[in-house]
Amino acid sequence: MSESRLLFEEQPVLHEDPQPGPLYAVFGQPVAHSLSPMIHQRFAAQTRKSLRYEAIEVAPGGLADALSAFSARGGVGANITLPLKAEALRIASEASEFAKRVGAANVLSRIASGWRAENTDGKGLIADLAERHRLDLRGRRVLLLGAGGAAHAAAFALLDAGIGELYIVNRTPERADRLADRIGEPDRVHTRYWQDLDRIGAFDLILNATSAGHTHQTLALPSSIIGTRCVCYDMSYSLAAVPFLAWARAAGAQLALDGLGMLVEQAAESFLIWHGVRPDTEDVLAELRAHLPAQAVE
Ligand code: ATR
Repeated sequence: MSESRLLFEEQPVLHEDPQPGPLYAVFGQPVAHSLSPMIHQRFAAQTRKSLRYEAIEVAPGGLADALSAFSARGGVGANITLPLKAEALRIASEASEFAKRVGAANVLSRIASGWRAENTDGKGLIADLAERHRLDLRGRRVLLLGAGGAAHAAAFALLDAGIGELYIVNRTPERADRLADRIGEPDRVHTRYWQDLDRIGAFDLILNATSAGHTHQTLALPSSIIGTRCVCYDMSYSLAAVPFLAWARAAGAQLALDGLGMLVEQAAESFLIWHGVRPDTEDVLAELRAHLPAQAVE
């Protein structure tokens, strides 16, 4: 995601003066060009809340100390991004069931005993797929490429949304097996080797949860996995999503979508947790799309 963030470096609108109000921040590494401060300030303006929202760079292993310092300055809520999401869950004094199942948290809220951890990535994905793009996920045959942090949230959320079957394929097959074991639904969840992709049939939905696009790498994928009216979704956005979405269009997908909508929806879910109101996401999504060079293609 670092490349997408760099694209925003020149946008003065993203560097607003601090506002009065309770203090929030996104923690990650790298984080300087995170879109979260801009998104939360837009949500705050829309819902007439005042808040401050910072971006705080933290190396792995340093989150507990950083949160203590943040709390001492009045910090009450944090978004957590790469590579700190599993660490955030370990630090938390309580956690939602979904965050525990996924094994990672992207939202922390200050409570008397410390921090409460939640994970809104899954809800963000489903909101984008099922509400914005009106996809009926029930009973669908789904292929998940990747078995890292992003794939974990997607797998649990899709299964909760009622998909019929989930095939997990990862470059390192042991990680796919570990994810399937963690899910523990052998009737619905299967793993396959990457080299067997041309033998597992066609899918209704293919999700790219790998980070290959961030390093401009193209995945080797056979067009036989594209089913009739297949939707291909890349959990990355902007330039990182280009290789997979280009492949999807060329291979005949009906829809090829990037993950920008998911990013905005997970932020809206964080905002709901902290402020008790779910902001409208369309305006901020349109604003982001106007700035980013590579658009989702439908
Ligand atoms: P994230 O939290 O973004 O998911 P991650 O946990 O580092 O990040 O996971 C990255 C995922 O992208 C992994 O599934 C990784 O595959 P491996 O488990 O084999 O490392 C996958 N990935 C990264 N580069 C890839 C590439 N060039 N081809 C295929 N998969 C790739």
